[in-house]
Amino acid sequence: KMDNFIKNLMSKMTVDEKIGQLNLPSSGDITTGQANSSDISKNIKAGQVGGLFNIKGVDKIRDVQKIAVENSRLKIPLLFGMDVIHGYNTVFPIPLGLSCTWDMDAVKKSARVAAIEASASGINWTFSPMVDISRDPRWGRISEGSGEDPYLGSQIAKAMVTGYQGKLQANNEILACVKHYALYGAAEAGRDYNTVDMSRVRMYNEYFPPYKAAVDAGSASIMASFNEVEGIPATGSKWLMTDVLRNQWGFKGFVVTDYTGIPEMIEHGMGDLQTVSALALNAGIDMDMVGNGFLGTLKKSLAEKKVTLAQINSACRLILEAKYKLGLFTDPYKFCDISRPEKDVFTPENRAIARNIAAKSFVLLKNNNILPLKKSGTIGLIGPLADNTANMYGTWSVAALLDKSVTVLQGLKNALGTNAKVLTARGANFLADSALEHRYVNVHNPTYKHDSRSEADMIKEALDVAKKSDVIVAVMGEGSEFSGESSSVSNIEIPETQKNLLKELAKTGKPIVLVLFTGRPLALKWEQENIHAILNVWFPGSEAGNAIADVLFGDVNPSGKLSTTFPQNVGQIPLYYSHKNTGRPLAEGKWFEKFRSNYLDVSNDPLYPFGFGLSYTTFSYSDIKLSSNTIKPGQQITATVTLTNTGKFAGEEVVQMYTRDLVGSITRPVKELKGFLKIALQPGESKTATFTINEETLKFYNSDLKFVAEPGDFKLFIGTNSRDAKSADFKLIK
Ligand code: IFM
Repeated sequence: KMDNFIKNLMSKMTVDEKIGQLNLPSSGDITTGQANSSDISKNIKAGQVGGLFNIKGVDKIRDVQKIAVENSRLKIPLLFGMDVIHGYNTVFPIPLGLSCTWDMDAVKKSARVAAIEASASGINWTFSPMVDISRDPRWGRISEGSGEDPYLGSQIAKAMVTGYQGKLQANNEILACVKHYALYGAAEAGRDYNTVDMSRVRMYNEYFPPYKAAVDAGSASIMASFNEVEGIPATGSKWLMTDVLRNQWGFKGFVVTDYTGIPEMIEHGMGDLQTVSALALNAGIDMDMVGNGFLGTLKKSLAEKKVTLAQINSACRLILEAKYKLGLFTDPYKFCDISRPEKDVFTPENRAIARNIAAKSFVLLKNNNILPLKKSGTIGLIGPLADNTANMYGTWSVAALLDKSVTVLQGLKNALGTNAKVLTARGANFLADSALEHRYVNVHNPTYKHDSRSEADMIKEALDVAKKSDVIVAVMGEGSEFSGESSSVSNIEIPETQKNLLKELAKTGKPIVLVLFTGRPLALKWEQENIHAILNVWFPGSEAGNAIADVLFGDVNPSGKLSTTFPQNVGQIPLYYSHKNTGRPLAEGKWFEKFRSNYLDVSNDPLYPFGFGLSYTTFSYSDIKLSSNTIKPGQQITATVTLTNTGKFAGEEVVQMYTRDLVGSITRPVKELKGFLKIALQPGESKTATFTINEETLKFYNSDLKFVAEPGDFKLFIGTNSRDAKSADFKLIK
């Protein structure tokens, strides 16, 4: 039915109208959602626009859709896109935080709620999930992804796609767009948009899996990345866009460039606009985001035989198919019900879900027995993030209600009522230098004001509060826009002025809990050594303060586990658990040996390893029991451990399973995550965690890029993080 409909429609389309479908302009300012020029509406009428993005408000979107379906010749409806990457009005934790839940139901639920709210606001296409593996905390966009691991990243990619799209039937199920294909998270030196160079073996084993998982889960679209891959910008890479994506993975949706991805190939040194536009179409790109390359040059390239009509037809067909699947040809206003926002957006139910998920995303990095706090006495709440609405959200909070988040102060007050006193002091700005701070804080944060008092005066005020308090809750770290696009840094410590404040607070000898806001792993060596408790809350979103209070006072026991390694210092980057052994590994327990692979000045250890996260309770692991220590093709074995809650609180533990392939035709990582289970236990309770392992579990891409499992010896690890785990041995026999 769809094929006939589209064939019929395309038979009526001119080449210009077909090229028009490949054009995706931005509507203008993302924060106001104002369409920025009458040119857009002129182009829509002329059938020169396939979709629009960044337009906010169901009424505005309805008006624009009306132009397309009433005033263009063929009445083809538009797609409306937006970067709804961690919620719409109800904002969820940033994706990096969300990934630390290791809870796929929660991840899917957050995407579902985001889709409900976005679709109620007219959006039918989200530029999410962002699944770029990154092992470089300097890169600002590490905040938008799921961390360093291909297995965890793949599970999350799948959960997000299914959460957004569902069956693509209801008016709250929207198109996903997995991005940024490919390898965007591997930019050299963590500098955004920078060059990437890596072996295909590494791409296939470590960086491709989450994109493929999203494709397998049915993602309707995929976005090309800005970076080059093997010397060709991804946007112009036929190998990536056609050979791998379509021919190897069987992708059936459409490919959109990133913002101006086509003209940026001129700067990459690939030729003029006509050349790079033809390069992109020939590579397999279907839609041009903002670049005006397709619209401006494809017809000429067609006449000059630099592209074919079949290619234009194919791209046009894929975009029309997406519109068809969304149901826009049956009802172009399917997502434009102006009564929906009232019912579906920022509801108490959605906020309750956001609160619950935010609390699950927090990672307890240290606890010297001071958490959970009592709901009594006097709490000194200190730091630039203690009472700061706009900075609870994190990057790409495109529809966040800047003044409606629950701040930490508000959350504490909600939890405490009159049972305890909260005293507050700002204590420090984000950065001491106001001009530099302005660069970090950014346009998306118009309400933020630099405090003009001197550092010394602000610290003094904070110390006065500290003296009157029984415990200090220091709320510090990064502002919302310190991470995200174009926010790379070379220093990953807590900014100096805040650290100075923390050092002064530490001198008081009062117990201190550091509530850390961050969009990236930070180097926290000093904090780990000197502060009593550290709760990493990432950017929790709309319900930040309530979720933080839930965890600080023990109403929720933290269960988040890191999805990315925290290094001791910036010089160790890239540092990740799944590294290779090298020919000169360090002996276990050593931190330096001459002529071994190590540093003179710092050990190879992370500060907090991948998978790490504490709880208010303790868990003990039994030894691993294997149903057999040999696996044959077509057979599987089970590995079980008994997990016991040995502490006083009910809690959840993420039991993690890793393998190591001891001998291979190519070198293999020292550990690879292959499974995880999140298990809830009452105090004293035990449960069995069971994992199955078969030949499939052990497959990897060899140097011929064949997905194989090689017979031989393996190690299995099951434990609480990538470092602390029990082990057992088994063999694959073929
Ligand atoms: O979706 C984003 C992408 O992640 C970065 N560049 C802009 C796009 C659209 O806003």
